Amino acid sequence: MASSEFDLVIRGGTVVTPTGVAQADVAILSESIAAIGRDLPAGRREIDAGGRYVLPGGVDPHCHIEQLSGGGIMNADTFETATRSAAFGGTTSVISFAAQHREMRLPQVVADYAALAAKGAVIDHAFHLMIANPDRQTIDHDLPALIRAGHRSVKVFMTYDKVQVNDEQLLDVLLASRQAGALVCVHAENHGMIKWMVERLLARGHVEPKFHAVSHPRAAEIEAIHRVIAFAEFIDQPVMIFHVSTAEGAEAIRAARGRGVKVFGETCPHYLLQSAEDLVLPGYEAARLMCSPPQRTGADQAALWQALERGDLQLISSDHAPYRMDASGKFNASATPNFKQIANGQPGLEMRLPVLFDAMVSRAGPARRVERLMQFVAWTATEPARLYDLPRKGAIAIGADADVAIWDPAREVTLTDELHDNVGYNPYRGRRITGWPEIVIQRGATLVESGRLLARPGQGRLLLREAGPATQPTGRLSPEFDPQRNFGADLM
Ligand code: URP
Ligand code: ZN
Ligand code: ZN
Repeated sequence: MASSEFDLVIRGGTVVTPTGVAQADVAILSESIAAIGRDLPAGRREIDAGGRYVLPGGVDPHCHIEQLSGGGIMNADTFETATRSAAFGGTTSVISFAAQHREMRLPQVVADYAALAAKGAVIDHAFHLMIANPDRQTIDHDLPALIRAGHRSVKVFMTYDKVQVNDEQLLDVLLASRQAGALVCVHAENHGMIKWMVERLLARGHVEPKFHAVSHPRAAEIEAIHRVIAFAEFIDQPVMIFHVSTAEGAEAIRAARGRGVKVFGETCPHYLLQSAEDLVLPGYEAARLMCSPPQRTGADQAALWQALERGDLQLISSDHAPYRMDASGKFNASATPNFKQIANGQPGLEMRLPVLFDAMVSRAGPARRVERLMQFVAWTATEPARLYDLPRKGAIAIGADADVAIWDPAREVTLTDELHDNVGYNPYRGRRITGWPEIVIQRGATLVESGRLLARPGQGRLLLREAGPATQPTGRLSPEFDPQRNFGADLM
Protein backbone atom coordinates (compact mmCIF):
# COMPACT_ATOMS: atom_id res chain seq x y z
CA MET A 1 0.00 0.00 0.00
CA ALA A 2 1.41 3.44 -0.93
CA SER A 3 2.39 5.56 2.06
CA SER A 4 -0.44 8.05 1.66
CA GLU A 5 -3.24 5.54 1.41
CA PHE A 6 -4.26 5.90 5.03
CA ASP A 7 -6.20 8.98 6.02
CA LEU A 8 -4.98 8.84 9.59
CA VAL A 9 -2.39 6.84 11.49
CA ILE A 10 -2.45 6.86 15.30
CA ARG A 11 1.12 6.00 16.00
CA GLY A 12 2.92 4.23 18.81
CA GLY A 13 0.16 4.01 21.40
CA THR A 14 -0.75 1.19 23.76
CA VAL A 15 -3.62 -0.33 21.82
CA VAL A 16 -6.36 -2.38 23.46
CA THR A 17 -8.00 -4.88 21.12
CA PRO A 18 -10.44 -7.64 22.08
CA THR A 19 -7.55 -10.09 22.19
CA GLY A 20 -4.87 -8.15 24.04
CA VAL A 21 -2.84 -5.05 24.74
CA ALA A 22 0.16 -4.12 22.57
CA GLN A 23 2.27 -1.22 21.35
CA ALA A 24 1.01 -0.61 17.83
CA ASP A 25 -0.09 1.85 15.19
CA VAL A 26 -3.74 2.08 14.15
CA ALA A 27 -4.46 3.14 10.58
CA ILE A 28 -7.77 4.59 9.45
CA LEU A 29 -9.03 4.72 5.91
CA SER A 30 -12.22 6.67 5.34
CA GLU A 31 -14.52 5.71 8.27
CA SER A 32 -12.97 2.36 9.22
CA ILE A 33 -9.95 0.87 10.90
CA ALA A 34 -7.82 -0.42 8.04
CA ALA A 35 -4.70 -1.77 9.75
CA ILE A 36 -3.21 -2.42 13.17
CA GLY A 37 0.49 -3.14 13.45
CA ARG A 38 4.02 -1.90 13.95
CA ASP A 39 5.67 0.66 11.67
CA LEU A 40 2.67 1.22 9.42
CA PRO A 41 3.26 3.58 6.49
CA ALA A 42 2.62 7.27 7.00
CA GLY A 43 -0.92 8.53 6.80
CA ARG A 44 -2.18 11.80 5.37
CA ARG A 45 -2.61 12.80 9.01
CA GLU A 46 -0.69 11.41 11.99
CA ILE A 47 -1.35 11.46 15.71
CA ASP A 48 1.54 10.66 18.02
CA ALA A 49 0.03 8.42 20.70
CA GLY A 50 3.33 7.65 22.48
CA GLY A 51 2.63 7.20 26.20
CA ARG A 52 -1.12 7.12 25.50
CA TYR A 53 -3.73 4.36 25.48
CA VAL A 54 -5.65 3.83 22.26
CA LEU A 55 -9.08 2.48 23.15
CA PRO A 56 -12.38 2.06 21.32
CA GLY A 57 -14.83 4.89 21.87
CA GLY A 58 -17.23 4.00 24.66
CA VAL A 59 -20.67 2.55 23.97
CA ASP A 60 -23.21 3.72 26.54
CA PRO A 61 -26.32 1.57 26.17
CA HIS A 62 -28.56 3.19 28.77
CA CYS A 63 -29.12 6.93 28.79
CA HIS A 64 -32.18 9.14 28.95
CA ILE A 65 -31.97 11.96 26.43
CA GLU A 66 -34.58 14.62 25.68
CA GLN A 67 -37.09 12.31 27.34
CA LEU A 68 -40.15 12.78 29.49
CA SER A 69 -39.34 10.72 32.58
CA GLY A 70 -41.44 8.07 34.30
CA GLY A 71 -42.28 10.80 36.80
CA GLY A 72 -43.41 13.15 33.98
CA ILE A 73 -40.44 15.57 34.05
CA MET A 74 -38.46 16.55 30.96
CA ASN A 75 -34.74 15.75 30.85
CA ALA A 76 -32.39 18.72 31.00
CA ASP A 77 -30.38 17.46 28.04
CA THR A 78 -31.14 17.67 24.36
CA PHE A 79 -29.45 15.26 21.96
CA GLU A 80 -26.92 17.98 21.27
CA THR A 81 -25.95 18.63 24.89
CA ALA A 82 -26.06 14.97 25.97
CA THR A 83 -24.04 13.58 23.09
CA ARG A 84 -21.58 16.48 23.25
CA SER A 85 -20.89 15.62 26.87
CA ALA A 86 -20.62 11.92 25.96
CA ALA A 87 -17.96 12.77 23.38
CA PHE A 88 -15.94 14.78 25.91
CA GLY A 89 -16.03 11.71 28.15
CA GLY A 90 -14.72 9.34 25.47
CA THR A 91 -18.07 7.82 24.46
CA THR A 92 -18.90 7.63 20.74
CA SER A 93 -22.16 5.65 20.67
CA VAL A 94 -25.27 5.83 22.82
CA ILE A 95 -28.51 3.94 23.05
CA SER A 96 -31.24 6.16 24.46
CA PHE A 97 -35.00 5.72 24.57
CA ALA A 98 -37.84 6.28 22.16
CA ALA A 99 -40.13 6.61 25.14
CA GLN A 100 -43.79 5.91 24.69
CA HIS A 101 -46.21 7.27 27.29
CA ARG A 102 -49.74 5.97 27.79
CA GLU A 103 -51.53 8.07 25.21
CA MET A 104 -48.87 7.75 22.50
CA ARG A 105 -48.58 5.59 19.38
CA LEU A 106 -45.15 3.98 19.05
CA PRO A 107 -44.36 4.77 15.37
CA GLN A 108 -44.89 8.48 16.03
CA VAL A 109 -42.75 8.27 19.18
CA VAL A 110 -39.87 6.73 17.24
CA ALA A 111 -40.22 9.24 14.39
CA ASP A 112 -40.18 12.13 16.87
CA TYR A 113 -37.07 10.94 18.73
CA ALA A 114 -35.28 10.13 15.47
CA ALA A 115 -35.97 13.68 14.25
CA LEU A 116 -34.62 15.18 17.49
CA ALA A 117 -31.49 13.05 17.26
CA ALA A 118 -31.00 13.77 13.57
CA LYS A 119 -31.00 17.48 14.39
CA GLY A 120 -28.81 17.41 17.47
CA ALA A 121 -26.76 14.25 17.96
CA VAL A 122 -23.02 14.70 17.74
CA ILE A 123 -22.32 10.95 17.98
CA ASP A 124 -23.87 7.75 16.65
CA HIS A 125 -27.01 6.58 18.38
CA ALA A 126 -29.68 3.89 18.55
CA PHE A 127 -32.98 3.57 20.39
CA HIS A 128 -34.57 1.21 22.83
CA LEU A 129 -38.34 1.07 22.25
CA MET A 130 -39.83 1.99 25.63
CA ILE A 131 -43.32 0.56 25.99
CA ALA A 132 -45.83 2.15 28.39
CA ASN A 133 -48.97 1.55 26.34
CA PRO A 134 -48.95 -2.15 25.46
CA ASP A 135 -52.37 -2.26 23.84
CA ARG A 136 -53.18 -4.61 20.92
CA GLN A 137 -52.09 -2.06 18.31
CA THR A 138 -48.69 -1.72 19.99
CA ILE A 139 -48.15 -5.40 20.74
CA ASP A 140 -49.51 -6.99 17.58
CA HIS A 141 -48.52 -4.41 15.00
CA ASP A 142 -46.33 -1.43 15.94
CA LEU A 143 -43.78 -3.13 18.17
CA PRO A 144 -42.97 -6.02 15.79
CA ALA A 145 -42.78 -3.64 12.81
CA LEU A 146 -40.37 -1.30 14.57
CA ILE A 147 -38.22 -4.15 15.89
CA ARG A 148 -37.97 -5.55 12.36
CA ALA A 149 -37.10 -2.06 11.09
CA GLY A 150 -33.91 -2.21 13.20
CA HIS A 151 -34.78 -1.13 16.74
CA ARG A 152 -33.68 -4.41 18.29
CA SER A 153 -34.20 -3.68 21.99
CA VAL A 154 -37.27 -2.97 24.07
CA LYS A 155 -37.54 -1.40 27.52
CA VAL A 156 -40.21 -1.73 30.18
CA PHE A 157 -40.58 -0.40 33.72
CA MET A 158 -42.00 -2.58 36.49
CA THR A 159 -42.51 0.56 38.61
CA TYR A 160 -43.43 4.27 38.21
CA ASP A 161 -47.20 4.98 38.05
CA LYS A 162 -47.08 6.72 34.68
CA VAL A 163 -45.18 4.07 32.72
CA GLN A 164 -45.13 0.71 34.52
CA VAL A 165 -46.42 -2.46 32.89
CA ASN A 166 -48.28 -5.09 34.89
CA ASP A 167 -47.46 -8.81 34.80
CA GLU A 168 -49.80 -9.63 31.91
CA GLN A 169 -48.48 -6.71 29.87
CA LEU A 170 -44.90 -7.77 30.60
CA LEU A 171 -45.73 -11.23 29.24
CA ASP A 172 -47.20 -9.64 26.11
CA VAL A 173 -44.05 -7.56 25.56
CA LEU A 174 -41.78 -10.58 26.12
CA LEU A 175 -43.68 -12.75 23.65
CA ALA A 176 -43.94 -10.05 20.97
CA SER A 177 -40.21 -9.37 21.31
CA ARG A 178 -39.43 -13.09 21.07
CA GLN A 179 -41.38 -13.35 17.84
CA ALA A 180 -39.88 -10.25 16.22
CA GLY A 181 -36.31 -10.64 17.55
CA ALA A 182 -35.39 -8.09 20.22
CA LEU A 183 -33.72 -8.05 23.62
CA VAL A 184 -36.06 -6.88 26.42
CA CYS A 185 -34.51 -4.54 29.00
CA VAL A 186 -36.23 -4.15 32.35
CA HIS A 187 -36.23 -1.64 35.18
CA ALA A 188 -36.90 -4.26 37.85
CA GLU A 189 -38.32 -2.97 41.13
CA ASN A 190 -41.52 -4.06 42.91
CA HIS A 191 -43.98 -1.18 42.58
CA GLY A 192 -46.19 -2.08 45.54
CA MET A 193 -43.31 -2.34 48.01
CA ILE A 194 -41.99 1.07 46.99
CA LYS A 195 -45.43 2.71 47.14
CA TRP A 196 -46.11 1.23 50.57
CA MET A 197 -42.74 2.35 51.94
CA VAL A 198 -43.12 5.86 50.51
CA GLU A 199 -46.50 6.26 52.21
CA ARG A 200 -45.19 5.06 55.58
CA LEU A 201 -42.08 7.26 55.44
CA LEU A 202 -44.00 10.40 54.46
CA ALA A 203 -46.76 9.75 57.02
CA ARG A 204 -44.09 9.69 59.73
CA GLY A 205 -42.44 12.90 58.52
CA HIS A 206 -39.36 11.29 56.97
CA VAL A 207 -39.24 13.57 53.97
CA GLU A 208 -35.56 14.37 53.33
CA PRO A 209 -33.77 13.13 50.18
CA LYS A 210 -31.86 10.43 52.08
CA PHE A 211 -35.14 8.61 52.77
CA HIS A 212 -35.38 7.91 49.05
CA ALA A 213 -32.85 5.14 49.67
CA VAL A 214 -35.10 3.63 52.34
CA SER A 215 -38.22 3.95 50.18
CA HIS A 216 -36.81 1.66 47.48
CA PRO A 217 -36.02 -1.43 49.57
CA ARG A 218 -33.39 -3.80 48.30
CA ALA A 219 -36.08 -6.48 48.57
CA ALA A 220 -38.08 -4.59 45.91
CA GLU A 221 -35.25 -5.04 43.43
CA ILE A 222 -34.59 -8.63 44.41
CA GLU A 223 -38.26 -9.63 44.09
CA ALA A 224 -38.65 -7.95 40.71
CA ILE A 225 -35.44 -9.47 39.30
CA HIS A 226 -36.60 -12.94 40.37
CA ARG A 227 -40.02 -12.27 38.82
CA VAL A 228 -38.74 -11.05 35.48
CA ILE A 229 -36.32 -13.97 35.31
CA ALA A 230 -39.24 -16.35 35.94
CA PHE A 231 -41.19 -14.66 33.15
CA ALA A 232 -38.21 -14.70 30.79
CA GLU A 233 -37.72 -18.40 31.43
CA PHE A 234 -41.44 -19.08 30.97
CA ILE A 235 -41.59 -17.26 27.60
CA ASP A 236 -38.00 -18.21 26.63
CA GLN A 237 -37.19 -14.60 25.83
CA PRO A 238 -33.74 -13.05 26.50
CA VAL A 239 -33.77 -10.17 28.97
CA MET A 240 -31.32 -7.53 30.20
CA ILE A 241 -31.74 -6.44 33.82
CA PHE A 242 -30.95 -2.74 33.93
CA HIS A 243 -28.98 -1.07 36.73
CA VAL A 244 -28.50 -3.96 39.17
CA SER A 245 -27.74 -2.43 42.58
CA THR A 246 -27.80 -5.34 45.05
CA ALA A 247 -25.66 -8.38 45.74
CA GLU A 248 -28.78 -10.54 45.76
CA GLY A 249 -29.93 -9.16 42.40
CA ALA A 250 -26.58 -10.08 40.85
CA GLU A 251 -26.78 -13.48 42.53
CA ALA A 252 -30.26 -14.11 41.08
CA ILE A 253 -28.86 -13.42 37.60
CA ARG A 254 -25.91 -15.71 38.25
CA ALA A 255 -28.18 -18.54 39.39
CA ALA A 256 -30.50 -18.12 36.39
CA ARG A 257 -27.62 -18.05 33.91
CA GLY A 258 -26.26 -21.15 35.61
CA ARG A 259 -29.42 -23.07 34.74
CA GLY A 260 -29.41 -21.81 31.16
CA VAL A 261 -31.82 -18.87 31.27
CA LYS A 262 -30.79 -16.16 28.81
CA VAL A 263 -30.54 -13.22 31.18
CA PHE A 264 -27.96 -10.43 31.06
CA GLY A 265 -27.23 -7.72 33.60
CA GLU A 266 -25.81 -4.22 33.72
CA THR A 267 -24.74 -2.03 36.57
CA CYS A 268 -23.69 1.64 36.66
CA PRO A 269 -20.78 3.65 38.10
CA HIS A 270 -22.96 5.01 40.92
CA TYR A 271 -23.67 1.49 42.25
CA LEU A 272 -19.95 0.66 42.13
CA LEU A 273 -18.61 3.94 43.53
CA GLN A 274 -21.38 5.49 45.68
CA SER A 275 -23.38 4.20 48.65
CA ALA A 276 -26.62 5.19 50.42
CA GLU A 277 -24.46 6.90 53.06
CA ASP A 278 -23.55 9.49 50.41
CA LEU A 279 -27.15 10.74 50.65
CA VAL A 280 -26.56 11.92 54.22
CA LEU A 281 -25.93 15.56 53.32
CA PRO A 282 -27.30 18.86 54.58
CA GLY A 283 -30.42 20.40 53.05
CA TYR A 284 -31.19 19.29 49.52
CA GLU A 285 -27.60 18.51 48.51
CA ALA A 286 -28.41 14.80 48.28
CA ALA A 287 -30.98 15.51 45.55
CA ARG A 288 -28.01 15.62 43.18
CA LEU A 289 -27.33 11.94 43.77
CA MET A 290 -30.86 10.56 44.01
CA CYS A 291 -31.51 7.79 41.53
CA SER A 292 -33.56 4.64 41.21
CA PRO A 293 -32.76 2.07 42.31
CA PRO A 294 -30.80 3.89 45.02
CA GLN A 295 -27.17 3.35 45.94
CA ARG A 296 -26.71 0.55 48.49
CA THR A 297 -23.75 -0.51 50.66
CA GLY A 298 -20.02 -1.18 50.41
CA ALA A 299 -20.80 -4.91 50.49
CA ASP A 300 -23.06 -4.48 47.45
CA GLN A 301 -20.32 -2.57 45.64
CA ALA A 302 -17.90 -5.45 46.26
CA ALA A 303 -20.49 -7.99 45.10
CA LEU A 304 -21.18 -6.02 41.89
CA TRP A 305 -17.48 -5.80 41.03
CA GLN A 306 -17.23 -9.53 41.62
CA ALA A 307 -20.31 -10.16 39.47
CA LEU A 308 -18.69 -8.21 36.61
CA GLU A 309 -15.45 -10.16 37.00
CA ARG A 310 -17.30 -13.47 36.93
CA GLY A 311 -19.38 -12.45 33.91
CA ASP A 312 -22.69 -12.55 35.78
CA LEU A 313 -23.08 -8.87 34.84
CA GLN A 314 -21.71 -7.99 31.43
CA LEU A 315 -21.57 -4.22 31.19
CA ILE A 316 -21.56 -0.82 32.87
CA SER A 317 -23.89 1.88 31.52
CA SER A 318 -24.33 5.43 32.80
CA ASP A 319 -28.15 5.49 33.18
CA HIS A 320 -27.64 9.18 32.39
CA ALA A 321 -30.84 10.79 33.71
CA PRO A 322 -30.26 14.54 33.64
CA TYR A 323 -32.22 16.97 35.82
CA ARG A 324 -31.04 20.39 36.88
CA MET A 325 -31.05 21.41 40.54
CA ASP A 326 -33.81 23.94 39.83
CA ALA A 327 -37.52 24.20 39.04
CA SER A 328 -37.00 22.64 35.60
CA GLY A 329 -35.75 19.42 37.19
CA LYS A 330 -35.16 18.22 40.74
CA PHE A 331 -37.30 21.01 42.18
CA ASN A 332 -40.10 20.79 39.63
CA ALA A 333 -42.77 20.08 42.24
CA SER A 334 -41.76 22.74 44.75
CA ALA A 335 -38.80 24.57 46.24
CA THR A 336 -39.07 22.35 49.32
CA PRO A 337 -40.11 18.97 47.98
CA ASN A 338 -40.30 15.72 49.89
CA PHE A 339 -38.05 12.94 48.55
CA LYS A 340 -40.88 11.45 46.48
CA GLN A 341 -41.34 14.71 44.57
CA ILE A 342 -37.69 14.95 43.49
CA ALA A 343 -36.83 13.68 39.98
CA ASN A 344 -34.69 10.55 40.08
CA GLY A 345 -31.44 10.34 38.20
CA GLN A 346 -27.85 11.50 37.87
CA PRO A 347 -25.93 12.79 34.87
CA GLY A 348 -23.39 10.15 33.84
CA LEU A 349 -22.60 10.28 30.14
CA GLU A 350 -19.45 12.36 30.54
CA MET A 351 -18.12 10.92 33.78
CA ARG A 352 -18.86 7.20 33.22
CA LEU A 353 -15.54 6.43 31.56
CA PRO A 354 -13.18 8.78 33.45
CA VAL A 355 -14.32 7.66 36.92
CA LEU A 356 -14.24 4.00 35.91
CA PHE A 357 -10.83 4.34 34.24
CA ASP A 358 -9.52 5.86 37.46
CA ALA A 359 -11.11 3.19 39.66
CA MET A 360 -10.22 0.24 37.46
CA VAL A 361 -7.01 1.09 35.64
CA SER A 362 -5.20 3.94 37.40
CA ARG A 363 -5.71 2.46 40.86
CA ALA A 364 -4.77 -1.08 39.78
CA GLY A 365 -1.32 -2.29 40.75
CA PRO A 366 1.12 -2.85 37.86
CA ALA A 367 0.48 -6.60 37.98
CA ARG A 368 -3.22 -6.17 37.21
CA ARG A 369 -3.13 -3.11 34.97
CA VAL A 370 -3.39 -4.92 31.62
CA GLU A 371 -6.21 -7.14 32.87
CA ARG A 372 -8.10 -4.14 34.26
CA LEU A 373 -7.58 -2.19 31.04
CA MET A 374 -9.09 -5.04 29.06
CA GLN A 375 -12.01 -5.32 31.47
CA PHE A 376 -12.59 -1.56 31.32
CA VAL A 377 -12.85 -1.73 27.53
CA ALA A 378 -14.96 -4.89 27.60
CA TRP A 379 -17.54 -3.62 30.11
CA THR A 380 -17.88 -0.11 28.70
CA ALA A 381 -17.56 -0.67 24.94
CA THR A 382 -17.14 -4.18 23.56
CA GLU A 383 -19.83 -5.99 25.55
CA PRO A 384 -22.49 -3.28 25.10
CA ALA A 385 -21.81 -3.33 21.36
CA ARG A 386 -21.99 -7.13 21.24
CA LEU A 387 -25.15 -7.52 23.29
CA TYR A 388 -27.02 -4.72 21.51
CA ASP A 389 -26.07 -5.75 17.99
CA LEU A 390 -23.67 -2.99 17.02
CA PRO A 391 -21.03 -5.11 15.23
CA ARG A 392 -19.02 -2.14 13.93
CA LYS A 393 -18.73 -0.54 17.36
CA GLY A 394 -16.87 -1.10 20.62
CA ALA A 395 -13.59 -2.59 19.44
CA ILE A 396 -10.29 -1.62 17.86
CA ALA A 397 -10.44 -4.17 15.06
CA ILE A 398 -9.83 -4.17 11.33
CA GLY A 399 -13.06 -3.31 9.52
CA ALA A 400 -14.68 -1.73 12.57
CA ASP A 401 -15.82 1.87 12.57
CA ALA A 402 -12.87 4.10 13.45
CA ASP A 403 -14.36 5.19 16.78
CA VAL A 404 -11.31 5.76 18.96
CA ALA A 405 -10.53 7.46 22.25
CA ILE A 406 -6.90 8.31 22.97
CA TRP A 407 -6.35 8.44 26.73
CA ASP A 408 -3.56 10.08 28.67
CA PRO A 409 -3.17 7.61 31.55
CA ALA A 410 -1.08 10.04 33.61
CA ARG A 411 -3.26 13.13 33.46
CA GLU A 412 -4.61 14.06 36.90
CA VAL A 413 -7.87 15.95 37.10
CA THR A 414 -9.87 17.27 40.04
CA LEU A 415 -13.49 17.03 38.95
CA THR A 416 -15.66 20.12 39.08
CA ASP A 417 -19.28 20.88 38.23
CA GLU A 418 -18.18 22.14 34.81
CA LEU A 419 -19.31 19.47 32.37
CA HIS A 420 -20.49 19.75 28.78
CA ASP A 421 -24.09 18.67 29.37
CA ASN A 422 -26.94 20.96 30.40
CA VAL A 423 -27.28 19.71 33.97
CA GLY A 424 -25.09 22.10 35.92
CA TYR A 425 -23.54 19.68 38.37
CA ASN A 426 -21.24 16.69 38.55
CA PRO A 427 -22.03 13.86 41.00
CA TYR A 428 -18.27 13.29 41.36
CA ARG A 429 -17.37 16.93 42.10
CA GLY A 430 -14.16 17.13 44.16
CA ARG A 431 -12.93 13.62 43.26
CA ARG A 432 -9.33 13.53 42.06
CA ILE A 433 -8.89 11.08 39.22
CA THR A 434 -6.05 9.96 36.99
CA GLY A 435 -6.53 9.26 33.29
CA TRP A 436 -8.37 11.35 30.73
CA PRO A 437 -9.67 10.93 27.15
CA GLU A 438 -7.79 13.61 25.22
CA ILE A 439 -8.69 12.92 21.61
CA VAL A 440 -11.98 11.34 20.59
CA ILE A 441 -12.61 10.20 17.04
CA GLN A 442 -15.74 8.90 15.33
CA ARG A 443 -15.61 7.12 11.99
CA GLY A 444 -12.23 8.76 11.36
CA ALA A 445 -13.32 12.33 12.14
CA THR A 446 -12.05 14.04 15.28
CA LEU A 447 -14.87 14.98 17.64
CA VAL A 448 -12.85 16.31 20.58
CA GLU A 449 -9.24 17.50 20.73
CA SER A 450 -7.43 19.87 23.10
CA GLY A 451 -10.62 20.32 25.12
CA ARG A 452 -12.56 21.59 22.09
CA LEU A 453 -15.55 20.09 20.30
CA LEU A 454 -14.88 19.81 16.58
CA ALA A 455 -18.14 18.09 15.68
CA ARG A 456 -21.40 19.67 14.60
CA PRO A 457 -24.90 18.82 15.85
CA GLY A 458 -26.61 16.30 13.61
CA GLN A 459 -23.48 14.55 12.37
CA GLY A 460 -24.16 11.47 14.52
CA ARG A 461 -25.83 8.62 12.66
CA LEU A 462 -28.86 6.55 13.58
CA LEU A 463 -27.75 2.94 14.05
CA LEU A 464 -30.29 0.40 12.86
CA ARG A 465 -29.58 -3.09 14.04
CA GLU A 466 -29.99 -6.70 12.86
CA ALA A 467 -31.17 -9.30 15.35
CA GLY A 468 -27.95 -10.63 16.84
CA PRO A 469 -27.14 -13.57 19.10
CA ALA A 470 -28.36 -11.87 22.30
CA THR A 471 -31.88 -11.62 20.90
CA GLN A 472 -32.16 -15.32 20.00
CA PRO A 473 -34.31 -17.47 22.31
CA THR A 474 -32.76 -20.67 23.64
CA GLY A 475 -35.44 -22.85 22.07
CA ARG A 476 -36.14 -24.47 25.45
CA LEU A 477 -39.93 -24.24 25.52
CA SER A 478 -41.85 -24.24 28.80
CA PRO A 479 -44.18 -27.25 28.95
CA GLU A 480 -47.22 -25.00 28.57
CA PHE A 481 -45.92 -23.71 25.23
CA ASP A 482 -44.76 -27.06 23.90
CA PRO A 483 -47.45 -28.68 21.72
CA GLN A 484 -46.00 -32.08 22.67
CA ARG A 485 -46.86 -31.39 26.30
CA ASN A 486 -49.76 -28.93 26.25
CA PHE A 487 -52.33 -31.20 24.55
CA GLY A 488 -51.54 -29.58 21.19
CA ALA A 489 -52.42 -25.97 22.05
CA ASP A 490 -50.85 -23.41 19.66
CA LEU A 491 -49.77 -20.57 21.96
CA MET A 492 -46.61 -19.09 20.46
O1 URP B 1 -33.08 7.28 38.61
C1 URP B 1 -33.13 6.94 37.44
N1 URP B 1 -32.47 5.90 37.01
N2 URP B 1 -33.87 7.66 36.60
C2 URP B 1 -34.04 7.40 35.25
C3 URP B 1 -35.13 6.46 34.96
C4 URP B 1 -34.75 5.06 35.26
O2 URP B 1 -35.27 4.52 36.20
O3 URP B 1 -33.92 4.48 34.58
ZN1 ZN C 1 -34.47 2.46 35.37
ZN1 ZN D 1 -32.65 4.52 33.14
